[in-house]
Amino acid sequence: MSLKKQLIGITLAAVLGTPAWAADPVKIGLVLPMSGPFAAYGKQIEHGVKLYLTVNGDTFAGRKVELIVKDDSPGTSGDVSKRLAQELIVKDKVDILAGFGLTPSAFAVAPLATEAKKPMIVMNAATSSVTTKSPYIVRTSMTLPQNSAPIATWAAKNNIKNVFTLVADYGPGQDAEGQFKKTFTAAGGKIVGEVRAPVMNPDFAPYLQKIKDTKPDAVFIFLPPGAETIAFMKGFTERGLGQAGIKLISTGDLPDEDILDAIGDAALGLVTAFHYSEAHNSPENKAYTAAYYKAYPKDRPNFMSVGGYDGMHLIAEVLKKTNGNTDAEKFVEAAKGMKWVSPRGPISIDPATRDIVQTVYIRKTERVAGKLQNVEFDQIPDFKDPGKQ
Ligand code: PHB
Repeated sequence: MSLKKQLIGITLAAVLGTPAWAADPVKIGLVLPMSGPFAAYGKQIEHGVKLYLTVNGDTFAGRKVELIVKDDSPGTSGDVSKRLAQELIVKDKVDILAGFGLTPSAFAVAPLATEAKKPMIVMNAATSSVTTKSPYIVRTSMTLPQNSAPIATWAAKNNIKNVFTLVADYGPGQDAEGQFKKTFTAAGGKIVGEVRAPVMNPDFAPYLQKIKDTKPDAVFIFLPPGAETIAFMKGFTERGLGQAGIKLISTGDLPDEDILDAIGDAALGLVTAFHYSEAHNSPENKAYTAAYYKAYPKDRPNFMSVGGYDGMHLIAEVLKKTNGNTDAEKFVEAAKGMKWVSPRGPISIDPATRDIVQTVYIRKTERVAGKLQNVEFDQIPDFKDPGKQ
């Protein structure tokens, strides 16, 4: 064969056969709050992503995963997240955008994912509408309505007739409040007061006083877990709201395992609805928590770590299906309808919304073998986000 023919052959093979990206690493840009008030979100999500690679290897369809982490602390400023995502796309040339601790971060980056045609895997941000902001978003965490509806149903069935709602005044808080009210009032319950607190540095004292004066059967809460949640729980006990017979109900963000030990006994007896508990009794979760403690002995596995772990699982399985192709359209098509057993239980990606379908558990915070745990006692299987209806 002449040299010319050989060269044509090689060029054709490159065009038709093995694609140019086949042996390159898959670059995943993680946009996460790694410092500041929500640093635990970034830590937990990164733990989950890395743990998946430790357990399953870091190469899928022949492509090695390369992680590039950008700290968008505090995670509530869309501008910071947007600038960092732009850098990831233009300078680092990432194939996939992932992470997103807080809703403002996911909202701000969604238009960039659309424009640059990058798959965007949301591993926490939980406002219902996040997945509607780009056709390339797939979510592996939860939505606030998905966890708020089941706790509203539980409350209505358990002799709670009047509820005061207190939420952080941004996407997930407004979603939690809206869904709780809708489900609870439809079941015959009454909302006797509602407040929206600032996301950063709220002073809970006046709210706690107002709640105490209103004397509802229960308070429904959503606050992004952190120092403020701990302060709220302490205030609730110190101001005697529990003693006055006022119950506390919420989504499982409140007694999140990452802050549960800091909340301490004030969390005992709390009933919540959530998609993940460290105490979830399954072989998959036993393996997950054991691997987690081995890798990160100083931390407790929580829902954010599982959001990261399942997000990485989704990326790995999609790569296998597309033979390593990360083209946004192909990626999202491959992700639609995907099903697997997560440490949290069975989950799937709704092909219509690209959002997660999962079991929501009703749990009570108890001391188990000396450790505070959210013990599951009831469940709603295959529950879709009701916030999109
Ligand atoms: C969010 O900002 O979307 C968010 C933050 C913390 C949570 C849930 C949702 O626990």
